[in-house]
Amino acid sequence: MNLQLVARTGQPDFLDLPWDVPLEEWDSERLVEVVRGIGRHVVRFVDYDGALYALKELPGRLAEREYRLLRDLEEQSMPVVEAVGVVSGAGIPNGQAVLITRHLDFSLPYRSLFTGRGVIDVRNRLLDALAELLVRLHLGGFFWGDCSLSNALFRRDAGALSAYLVDAETGELHPELSEGQRTYDLDVAEENVAGELMDLQAAAIGMPPDLDPVETAIEIRRRYDSLWCELTREEVFGPDERFRVDDRLRRLNALGFDVEEIELIGVDGELRLRLTPHVVEPGHHQRRLLALTGLDVQENQARRLLNDLRSFRAYLEREEGRTLPQSVVAYRWLSEVFEKAVALVPLELRSKLEPAELFHEILEHRWYLSEAAGRDVGIEAAVPAYVDSVLRLVPDERSVLAEDAEDV
Ligand SMILES: Nc1ncnc2c1ncn2[C@@H]1O[C@H](COP(=O)(O)OP(=O)(O)OP(=O)(O)O)[C@@H](O)[C@H]1O
Ligand SMILES: [Mg+2]
Repeated sequence: MNLQLVARTGQPDFLDLPWDVPLEEWDSERLVEVVRGIGRHVVRFVDYDGALYALKELPGRLAEREYRLLRDLEEQSMPVVEAVGVVSGAGIPNGQAVLITRHLDFSLPYRSLFTGRGVIDVRNRLLDALAELLVRLHLGGFFWGDCSLSNALFRRDAGALSAYLVDAETGELHPELSEGQRTYDLDVAEENVAGELMDLQAAAIGMPPDLDPVETAIEIRRRYDSLWCELTREEVFGPDERFRVDDRLRRLNALGFDVEEIELIGVDGELRLRLTPHVVEPGHHQRRLLALTGLDVQENQARRLLNDLRSFRAYLEREEGRTLPQSVVAYRWLSEVFEKAVALVPLELRSKLEPAELFHEILEHRWYLSEAAGRDVGIEAAVPAYVDSVLRLVPDERSVLAEDAEDV
C-alpha cells in the first residue's frame, strides 16, 4: 500500500488500520466512540492500549499545515491538542490525508458542559476559559481565524475550566498580531459562540434558562479586553518607583503569565514600562536562572529572582543607554544585587535561611517599604530594616533541622 506516515517517535505506527477505506467507512476493533463536537470533517477515535487518538480526514496539504501549526504552538507551551502525525499518500482514498492527534484526556466538548454532571457557574467559567485561551494564543502571535466553542476543548481545573485549542486549520502564526487581526478573531468568536449557544438552546439539553446567547458571546470580548489590557498596557511612573515594576510583574505571575523581557523608555522625566508577556512551561524559571547565574533554587524563588534580574537589566540599560548581553547583566546582578544584599546581612544571621529565600524575603521587605514610602527605598536601606524587624525574630531553620536529626 502506498502510504506515508510522518509521526513523532514513541507512538504506535498505526499500520494495522484500514487506510485504504475512507475513514467514515472504517470497521476496526480499535475504533471507539467518544463525545465530540460538531464539525465538517470526519473525525474518529482509535484506542492503542488505553491511549486514545483522534483521526481527522482532510485534504493532504491542510493536514500537513495543521500538523505543523499544532507542533509550533505546543513548542510555545500553548494549550493545544498534541499533534502526533499525518498519514498521506496515494493509498488513502479520494486524495485525502489523516491528521492524528492525541485525544485530550478528560476533555469535555462544550455540549457536555451543560449536560450530565454539569459545571457550577458554567457561563462564567466558559467565558473566562475561552477568553484566556484567545489571549494566550494572541500573545504568541497565533491568529485563529475560527475561534468557536466546537474548536476548543474544556478540562475541569480545580473547579474552574481551562480551554484547549483543538482545530487549527484556519490558523496562522505571525511574529506578532495586529490590532485588526485580533479584532477579527474576536468578531468571529462572538458570532460563532452566539450561534452555538442558540443551537444548544433550541436543542433544549439543559442550558441554564437565564443564559442569553448573544449577551454571553459579547461578554467574551469584554473579558478578553480586560485581560489583554492588564497584560500588555504601558505604564508610566517616576524614575525612583522601581517597586511598581515589581508590582506589575507579580500581578502578571498571579494571572499565570510571565515576562521574558521588560523595556523602560524614558519620556520627559518619566519612565514607560513595556512588557511582552508569554506563557511558560513548569520548571522554566529554575532552568533559566541556573543557566544565567549558576544559582540552583526552587521554581517560585527562581521566578522571583528572575523578575528582579529583569527589572535590574531594564534600569541598567537605561542608565548606560545601550543594550547589554544577558551574561553581562546576569553577572552584574549576581554580584551587585544578589550577593551584595546577602552580604549586608550580619554573618551570624545569614544561615537562618537559604540564600535564595533570604533574598526573596529582602525583596518582599523592600517592596513593602517602598510601597509605603511611595518610592523605591533601595536594597541598602531594605536589608537592615528587614534584619531588625524580621530576620532576628525568625527561628534558625537549618539548626532546627539538625537538632531534629540528632533526636532520631
Ligand atoms: N485530540 C482530540 N481530543 C479530543 N477531542 C478531539 C480531538 N480532536 C478532535 N476532537 C473532537 O472532534 C471535533 C472535531 O474536530 P475538529 O474541530 O478538528 O474538526 P472539524 O470540526 O471537522 O473541522 P472544522 O472546524 O474545520 O469543520 C472537536 O470538536 C472535538 O470534539
Ligand atoms: Mg472544528
